[in-house]
Amino acid sequence: MDYIRTEIIEVNAKYPEPTMIEHAAKLLHDGELVVFPTETVYGLGADAFQPAALERIFAAKGRPFSDPVIVHIAEEHELELLTAIIPSEAKRLAQEFWPGPLTLILPRGPRVPLLVTAGLATVAIRMPRHPVALALISALGSPIAAPSANRFTHVSPTTAQHVFADLSGRVPLILDAGPCEIGIESTVLDLCSDEPRILRPGGISLEALRAILPNVQPPLQRNTVVEDEEILAKKAPGQLLTHYAPTVPLLLFDGSIEGMRSGMLTEIERRCTQGEPVGVLVAEEDIPTFQNSGAFIYSPGSEDDLEQVAANLFAGLRTLEEAHVQVILCRNFGEQGLGLAIRDRLLKAAGGKICE
Ligand code: TXA
Ligand code: MG
Repeated sequence: MDYIRTEIIEVNAKYPEPTMIEHAAKLLHDGELVVFPTETVYGLGADAFQPAALERIFAAKGRPFSDPVIVHIAEEHELELLTAIIPSEAKRLAQEFWPGPLTLILPRGPRVPLLVTAGLATVAIRMPRHPVALALISALGSPIAAPSANRFTHVSPTTAQHVFADLSGRVPLILDAGPCEIGIESTVLDLCSDEPRILRPGGISLEALRAILPNVQPPLQRNTVVEDEEILAKKAPGQLLTHYAPTVPLLLFDGSIEGMRSGMLTEIERRCTQGEPVGVLVAEEDIPTFQNSGAFIYSPGSEDDLEQVAANLFAGLRTLEEAHVQVILCRNFGEQGLGLAIRDRLLKAAGGKICE
């Protein structure tokens, strides 16, 4: 694709400057792309109702058209532009979690461009809570379609610098409002099946959703049964393990804390004796165990503070990539609360395989 000069503008995260928001909204209005911060990760935005602009998203990311994108709204009445049916469950969840990191899969309204939904009969909608995102959608006066602002198959960006590393020369403008608060993408919840089901765990936990809708189903286990992969391919395109290939191979360790630590130490020793540089992503509590192991250590936070771990997770994977290690060994952070989303991202990065 043609080279585009990429401008990065710093914006106040709490009180975005109106002149900058108007500049960005004008670009979107003219069919250009704008990268903007959300509370989860940075998004690569286009006016959701301009097919030519939507095409640019796929070109900039190198993403296949088979992968649908999320539409971001700033006010609940915009739902009516996007979906013909708003089930009562959607209203209750929106009331509780919007604006915030929850994406609802609803029946696609007739006006939604096919590029947004990859030809599916459903559309993904979320109301982000980042003031810059909300101001931009309002200034444009139209919903914004946006995937995460990374190159296809790479780790999602949580800073403007991450975005620049992936998309410089491919987008005209990045709005920089500092690091994203949550650091992991939104929870994608399907409301178009018999029972509501999580398609992608994310910033809103299964437990929190069940407090509102007790019958919310967990994501399908997808490292075991082939049929599940087939169901997933139809229901949640873009969620397949085979779609993800980080630049450095990652091994995910599971089991008891002692078991994970000793498994990782054995693997580090084996690789270090072969002269292979190893990176580890571990909890703060694990650092003493690995301090003299010869591995490059990154800790996203304490195992008792999964919000902190989630917020630093993608930055950690990028830091380890840049440290030029040949492999990343990573521990598991459990499945409670945000643990499920953290595990999902690490499992994807590990190509679905677990070391025990
Ligand atoms: O937090 C987030 O969700 C971020 C920020 C920018 O909002 N966005 C994000 O978008 O993560 P993306 O495109 O990287 O991931 C969206 C996920 C994809 O896995 C996609 O397959 C799924 O949502 N999705 C989108 N539309 C869908 C639909 N109609 N049915 C099922 N899954 C859908
Ligand atoms: Mg993404």
